[in-house]
Amino acid sequence: MPESRCLQGIWSSPWIFIFAASGSAVGLGNIWKFPYVLGQNGGGAFLLVYCLCLLLVGLPVLIAEVALGRTVRSNPIDTVNDLSERRIVHSAWVVVPWIAGITGFLILSFYSVIAGWSFAYLERAISGDFMGITSSSATDMFSELLAEPSEMLLWHSVFVVLVVMTVGQSVTRGLSAVVRFLLPALVITLGALAVYSVSIGDMDSTLRFMFQWSWQDVTFDVVLAAVSLALFSLSVGMGAMFAYGAYINKRMSIARACTIVVGVDLLVALLSGLVIFPLVFAFQIDVEAGPSLTFVSLPIIFGNLIGGQFFASIFFLLLVIAALTSAISMLELFVAWLHEKFYIARLKAAFLMGVLVWFVGVAVLLSFNHWDSDIVLGLNFFEVLDSVTSLILLPIGAILLSILVAWFIPHAMLQNEMITQRLSHFQWWYNVLKYISIPAMVMITVAGWIGV
Ligand code: PFF
Repeated sequence: MPESRCLQGIWSSPWIFIFAASGSAVGLGNIWKFPYVLGQNGGGAFLLVYCLCLLLVGLPVLIAEVALGRTVRSNPIDTVNDLSERRIVHSAWVVVPWIAGITGFLILSFYSVIAGWSFAYLERAISGDFMGITSSSATDMFSELLAEPSEMLLWHSVFVVLVVMTVGQSVTRGLSAVVRFLLPALVITLGALAVYSVSIGDMDSTLRFMFQWSWQDVTFDVVLAAVSLALFSLSVGMGAMFAYGAYINKRMSIARACTIVVGVDLLVALLSGLVIFPLVFAFQIDVEAGPSLTFVSLPIIFGNLIGGQFFASIFFLLLVIAALTSAISMLELFVAWLHEKFYIARLKAAFLMGVLVWFVGVAVLLSFNHWDSDIVLGLNFFEVLDSVTSLILLPIGAILLSILVAWFIPHAMLQNEMITQRLSHFQWWYNVLKYISIPAMVMITVAGWIGV
């Protein structure tokens, strides 16, 4: 392996990879995005389709991405260049990692603004601002945050600096320490909050909303939203898992590790739903409120809870850390590439990327107040970025990556990569990817676009 391709480290054990990949998967997508997209898409039908998408699309594509990363042990761009130099694939395939990297970069630029909201709420939690809050004052609190760019700017900047500093270190070194305690702490906290929320909220309406469905509710819009959220939530199609796959040791079972990641991701999303919806129904908050849903309902829980100030502070601290462990994986692709290809120090590469992310993020946060004007199709800049990344770039990236792996990388090479898998498991994954995931993604994406 040429010197430039040597990576800074290998995950010290399979569990560290599982934690790191789960750390990338679990984030604002589970706690902020999942509840509001579920709310906007009618509940039960969406949840059912979402679970199917995780299993039949998300998991096979995740395995494909991680396996490809491990094949060449390099950053995604150089991986494809290397495969094309070895005449395994055409050089045009380099478009795949570029789309992935650009998608991750664009997502990070609004993700850091939302992470900034979590920071702002952490500060409010520590100051005890949620005590005695009502549903209307919770709505006002959120509207006031959006109306004032300077506070969002501060927290967006703090978050970008943290991301740059963490990615600037070797990823395997920086992450292992954090994720080990983050996930268990997050699951336990969410579980406890769900029990409390269910006890004070409207459990019947929540169960009906989340778990009852009928066929009429399964429209192409719902299915496209579910596929796109599954990809977003598992961090696939953006090169993040590809980059992490490059740090896996050869003896590890990729399929088993990825299945655990999907399970953890779904568990956290479901717990978030069970925390938020009982209150949404009990306090008559609009289920279709969109991005504000989580930030309006959570303060109500904490405001009514004995020791709420303490629990709110812990919760928002964990949310910020979860956002951080996701965000760093979005920047990893370009940072690893700049470092390995051009020998730019990781910290410098992270800084360069961070500056770009910061600028786009500023435009995003202004789109909630001073620049709240329609850019295209009645959408402001944040909504355009969110829609373009979720509904166009993410599915295209995932489709192209899957086609590359399923149809162009030689079967034997993949099988060698998945040597720790039983042959029957390998065949199962390969066929699902080839004959179910890819056709499903293509059909759903195109049908969603043309509005069938
Ligand atoms: N999966 C993350 C979440 O659910 O918050 C978001 C994410 C991480 C998207 C990494 C993209 C990515 F590359």
